[in-house]
Amino acid sequence: MPVLGSSGLDVFPLALGTNTFRWTASTAESHRILDAFVERGGNFLDTADVYSVWAPGNSGGESESVIGEWLASRGNRERVIIATKVSGHPAFPGLTADNITAGAERSLKRLRTDHLDVYYAHVDDPATPLEETVAAFDRLVQRGLVRHVALSNYTADRVQEWVDVAHDLGAAPPVSLQPHYNLLARTGFERDLRPVAERNDLGVLPYSGLASGFLTGKYRSAADAAGTARGALLGDYLTGAGFAVVRELEAVASELEAEPATVALAWLRSRPTVVAPIASVSAVDQLDALLASASLELTPAQDERLTTASDSFAAALT
Ligand SMILES: NC(=O)c1ccc[n+]([C@@H]2O[C@H](COP(=O)([O-])OP(=O)(O)OC[C@H]3O[C@@H](n4cnc5c(N)ncnc54)[C@H](OP(=O)(O)O)[C@@H]3O)[C@@H](O)[C@H]2O)c1
Repeated sequence: MPVLGSSGLDVFPLALGTNTFRWTASTAESHRILDAFVERGGNFLDTADVYSVWAPGNSGGESESVIGEWLASRGNRERVIIATKVSGHPAFPGLTADNITAGAERSLKRLRTDHLDVYYAHVDDPATPLEETVAAFDRLVQRGLVRHVALSNYTADRVQEWVDVAHDLGAAPPVSLQPHYNLLARTGFERDLRPVAERNDLGVLPYSGLASGFLTGKYRSAADAAGTARGALLGDYLTGAGFAVVRELEAVASELEAEPATVALAWLRSRPTVVAPIASVSAVDQLDALLASASLELTPAQDERLTTASDSFAAALT
């Protein structure tokens, strides 16, 4: 299995996103998804304190609680790597030392565990000095509450600044980046962040690997997306160039006797610095297509065709 940056953690090459838990997946379905994921070799769960605050009736922390209930009932904490995040919750924003410490303690309680394997700064907080933020994460590591530090949604400059501050303070360095990266969102990562990841041995776990489900090929028109839970997230994709990427995915998928979702994630998995794409499911029967991506190899020609279709999508956006 690939190793996550300098952490030494072996990660199955498809990480499970869990923002669907108690949003589009009930607690019972979420537990079935978790059971199936680990049964088939998966070991990395991506959650956050904010998941899924946007669902009616929720206040955030639901995903962590669902995972915590599952861990307690299965007694398998050592079987999984748990990554969660702080600073994205609207009621607990920012990366002051107090917010980081309190956030970690709340997450640990909901997850019913004594340590977080990976703790992400979810979104940057330019108003708090990085020295304060980096030192607060380091104190959690020193206390044994957090094993590894990681960053999501940071610019390349700020990632490098964090690495440098951690070095100067002798604090735990980040081991991973979690950027928005998939066939329909490439430039920000490939041009700016990837060189920083390469330079600093940061393992990359791209999020929204399926572009919110668009890359499964299940949306054939804007009308298909209207009224769905993720419809509002699909706006930019429902264009001629977006559907052309799906058509290329379908063509490659039929050559490989695979699903388009599997091909999209296999393409992402094989990009330089990527350790494991993160993707989510709302039902356990969607999981096979994701897990199959961990072992699917595209030919160089298939890879190139997908990249070319993706380039055309990016060009049409500008
Ligand atoms: N760090 C960050 O700021 C950040 C931001 C976003 C996400 N994330 C992480 O990344 C994870 C994944 O991203 P994402 O949830 O945005 O979306 P995604 O993985 O791009 O898309 C997942 C959605 O596609 C649909 N789908 C998946 N497999 C399918 C299949 N086989 N057939 C048909 N439909 C299928 C499901 O939605 P429906 O069934 O509802 O259509 C599923 O929830 C999140 O759970 C979270 O852990 C992190």
